[in-house]
Amino acid sequence: MTVRYFTTPIYYVNDVPHIGHAYTSLATDTLTRWYRLCGDEVRFQTGTDEHGLKIEQAARKTGISPKEHADRYSAPFRKLWDFLDVVPDKFIRTTDADHEAVVCDIWRRMEAQGDIYLGKYEGWYSVGDEAYFTEDELVDGKSPSGHEVSWVVEPSYFFRMSKYGDRLLEFLNTHPDFVRPASRQNEIVSFVKQGLQDISISRTTFSWGIPVPDADGHVIYVWVDALTNYISGLGGPGAELYNKFWPHVTHLIGKDIIRFHAVYWPCILMSAGLPLPEHIFAHGWWRHDGEKMSKTKGNVVDPWKIAGKYGPDVFRYFVLREVSFGADGDFSEKGLCGRINGDLANGYGNLFNRTLGMLARYRNGVVPNPGEDENAAELKQRIAEVQRELSQAMDELAFHKALAAIWSVIAVADKYVDSSAPWTLAKNEKTDAAARQKLDAVLYNLCETLRILGVWTLAFLPRKAKALLDRLNVPEDLRNVASTLNFGAFKAGTTVQTEGEALFPRVEMPAENEATPAAPAAPAPAPKKAEKKAKKAEPEPPPAEIDFSDFAKLDLRVAKIIAAERHPDADRILKLTVDAGDPEPRTICSGIAEAYAPEDVVGRSVILVANLAPRKIRGIMSYGMLLCGGEGKTTTLATVPADLKPGTRVS
Ligand code: MSP
Repeated sequence: MTVRYFTTPIYYVNDVPHIGHAYTSLATDTLTRWYRLCGDEVRFQTGTDEHGLKIEQAARKTGISPKEHADRYSAPFRKLWDFLDVVPDKFIRTTDADHEAVVCDIWRRMEAQGDIYLGKYEGWYSVGDEAYFTEDELVDGKSPSGHEVSWVVEPSYFFRMSKYGDRLLEFLNTHPDFVRPASRQNEIVSFVKQGLQDISISRTTFSWGIPVPDADGHVIYVWVDALTNYISGLGGPGAELYNKFWPHVTHLIGKDIIRFHAVYWPCILMSAGLPLPEHIFAHGWWRHDGEKMSKTKGNVVDPWKIAGKYGPDVFRYFVLREVSFGADGDFSEKGLCGRINGDLANGYGNLFNRTLGMLARYRNGVVPNPGEDENAAELKQRIAEVQRELSQAMDELAFHKALAAIWSVIAVADKYVDSSAPWTLAKNEKTDAAARQKLDAVLYNLCETLRILGVWTLAFLPRKAKALLDRLNVPEDLRNVASTLNFGAFKAGTTVQTEGEALFPRVEMPAENEATPAAPAAPAPAPKKAEKKAKKAEPEPPPAEIDFSDFAKLDLRVAKIIAAERHPDADRILKLTVDAGDPEPRTICSGIAEAYAPEDVVGRSVILVANLAPRKIRGIMSYGMLLCGGEGKTTTLATVPADLKPGTRVS
């Protein structure tokens, strides 16, 4: 059994939780759930960072003690995690007495190595970052993140970090995936190559911190205190939990605090004679409707509000699906609603409804015998491939890839329903035993696919996936990842609750003034506009005549739109995922966004020019073109009846 330990940063208690905090916690909780479903022993820790000048100053402003302030601001984090189904094994607070004891132990270990010496600190300090900066690092007289700095002169203990530069570099060279994504490891390697400086690790000008052992008037630098939480939460060196989980840890953090984690923390551990963490993963930052979030702008995304309105599961799904973990992301309520209506309601929810509806109609809600159906080969093969893709994606913390892989099964399952036409089998089964047997097989395969999807999504949509598995009456022993390797494990004869609430009700798109407006369209190059106008004034001649062999070159096919979202970089374009009867769904960028919202087109059967040479449209490859009439807001997709299967030739 693999042992794994996941941590989030501990959050400062000077602010209420926002989407940035929720993001790391949701991602960490998802990993924890996933590896538990895989049978691993997993520990998850989060908490609050409660010492330092920043907190002391915030408390002073409200006229309460720093501890009262910390109590007041730590609680909302716990409450939010409860609400978002984030379930840590340990919520640590740096004001906990057992944490403080471990910090002092680490200090003494470093001191025993001769790595701590008394000196005088003179330089720039930013309270906002709780960090020291050299003159060169300042940007327009402020810290690189824009916080005020002040000149500090005080006696201070220093950590001989310079001693560990070579060892750290050697470690980075032999552990190429220590910091992920890889670009961040390169950043750290270049930084360490420049040589490490000793750092100041105590302060005397305020008192809200852990006192330096045996040194009056000094408190331990807040980052030494905070980083130690990762081992103090295990009881510290030598404790049972520590022996089990350290150093099998992945620290999940935001990209802004990578230097503390990938340089300071390993050096502290080396000095204390302790093993270094296995991995550090730095994720990107969220913006809101294309803008940096800030309290002054009042555009900070409040997870309570969003998850309260749409549900904690879909909020989790959105943040993990929308961007690759490591890249920056843009939150928009419209984008969230698009995913709810598209991926969840029309995709996952619709497959669930269809299947249960048919099971109720044709088999009284009882899962029939599996039987043979060669038409199911593609579905089974896709499921087997996704098993592998999923575990690889999760090992890479590529949540968006994992979800895309899962959703590819939904697309294939939808196609399986359409191509099996259970409604026709049902018509014939009274007189045709083969049709009866086939209908059994189709319904069984769909229920089994839903069970597997339910298990796979337990980590990403904990409540919804549980509700789905409960409705299917899936026993506990079939709710783990190992059981999904065994297509056919679901027991025939199981009675399913075919009636119940919709898993993913559709939501209304927020009105224009509720959601922040979309980014303005990139201005079209002027000469082209003029050209277009000129052309309109003078009717264009009809295209030249072609003969049939020219027409026959076109591969026109029926395609079904299975997912749709806005193109991230082009207002007039929707990025569509269509089933065109190929082994894999394809991506089409279609200029219909002025006329259709993403959720309006999902489920439509349209006509695709399938052999148009692939083309990159504003960074996204498009594999074909959909036929439409009109232009701009009056664009209308050419559609065909839904009973024409995807892939059917149009001529
Ligand atoms: N207390 C330190 C961490 C100590 S860990 C030993 C701290 N706290 S914080 O509350 O300021 O930030 C916590 C996390 O939130 C950081 O990982 C930071 O990257 C993340 N985020 C803050 N704003 C964010 C976004 N807008 N988007 C994504 N994450 C961001 O730093």
